[in-house]
Amino acid sequence: MFDFKSIRKDFPMLNGKKMRGHDLVYLDNASTTLKPQAVIDVMVDYYSSTTGNSHRGDYDLCFNLDNRIADVRKKVANFINAEEDEVVFTYGTTSSLSLVAWGYAFNNLSEGDEIVLNDSEHASDSLPWFEIAKRKGIKIVFASLNADGGVTLESIKNAVSDKTRLICVAATTNVLGTSAPIKEIVEFAHSKGILVSVDGAQSVPHRKTDVKDWDCDFLSFSGHKMLGPTGIGILYGKKELLEKTSPLFTGGGNNVSFDNTCKVTYLPAPAKFESGTLNIEGILGLGAAIDYLSSIGMDEIEKHEIELKKYALEKLGEIEDVVIYNKNTEAGIVTFNVNGVFAQDVATYLNSKGIAVRSGLHCAKMLNKDIGVDATVRASFYLYTTKNDIDALCEALKTCKGGFLDVYFD
Ligand code: ALA
Repeated sequence: MFDFKSIRKDFPMLNGKKMRGHDLVYLDNASTTLKPQAVIDVMVDYYSSTTGNSHRGDYDLCFNLDNRIADVRKKVANFINAEEDEVVFTYGTTSSLSLVAWGYAFNNLSEGDEIVLNDSEHASDSLPWFEIAKRKGIKIVFASLNADGGVTLESIKNAVSDKTRLICVAATTNVLGTSAPIKEIVEFAHSKGILVSVDGAQSVPHRKTDVKDWDCDFLSFSGHKMLGPTGIGILYGKKELLEKTSPLFTGGGNNVSFDNTCKVTYLPAPAKFESGTLNIEGILGLGAAIDYLSSIGMDEIEKHEIELKKYALEKLGEIEDVVIYNKNTEAGIVTFNVNGVFAQDVATYLNSKGIAVRSGLHCAKMLNKDIGVDATVRASFYLYTTKNDIDALCEALKTCKGGFLDVYFD
């Protein structure tokens, strides 16, 4: 059994960082994660001793970067079991999903086609589809959610018709942490000639991902939710689909030739999507984050989070006024309210105790009607989270009552 407590020394934010005079208790990992020193070092090193541009220089600094970027692409491919040329560097999950929507769907779907969504999707996996639907006359069909707030194979089957072209679904959702049966959904979808785009923002950082096993058509995820820097994301797409996807950004670095008749020949994927100077330090940082996660093992990380979730349910369950909305999901996310206290007030109170959580709708603005409340508090865990962090949360919640406005402003 891996000793997860031993890794806390690797994270500067967990060593001496105070919030409101308390040692930081960081429980907002579904939003973004803390960075280990190894990730920070590689980025500082890029700026202090290895600066250059990639694919644009005939000198060693650039050659070295070209090789290092190719290495990171290989690492990402290995991490999700993809081929290197199926891995596109983007700016985050939102930009990856928008590339699927505007680069693929906008150009390959037609009026009257249908896309299946569901209420638990994040705004980044809903709003691009609403826009496409509006502009192209495509219909959005919502798969129903089960009592735990997740989609099932059955609910997807019920939402599909002979006009469905695409199913967009999160492998794990960001509010309740429900997990969709991706492999089964894809198998069913493909039997009907339907493609599946998976939002992996909340799953790829937390458990082993195998796109070949899932057989999904697209997968989007972010670096910053898996110990890496912000501003770097990945779109995985099957080779033949990436060939049918148009770049959203065009410019330097993604074309073979163009002339003044406006004729352009683009490079093959993934280069055709990567015009402009890449987020080089972001790519290098992501590579270091993958090394860090891989040195521990995704199965160990998943087991650790499942155990934390069980512990949190047990401890929070002992507090009379706490109502939990996702008791049956395994992901390291606990979503709750405190009776009689508005969710944002709870988060603000926890802040006064040095505890970071998220409150509100968490960018999933269709889910409130399914869970019956307008706002919730979300505590989300990662590999460096300990049972002590959960104990601190529970102790603070025991004293969280209405009428403590003074803590907002001290
Ligand atoms: N998508 C992130 C969250 O769920 C920001 O908090």
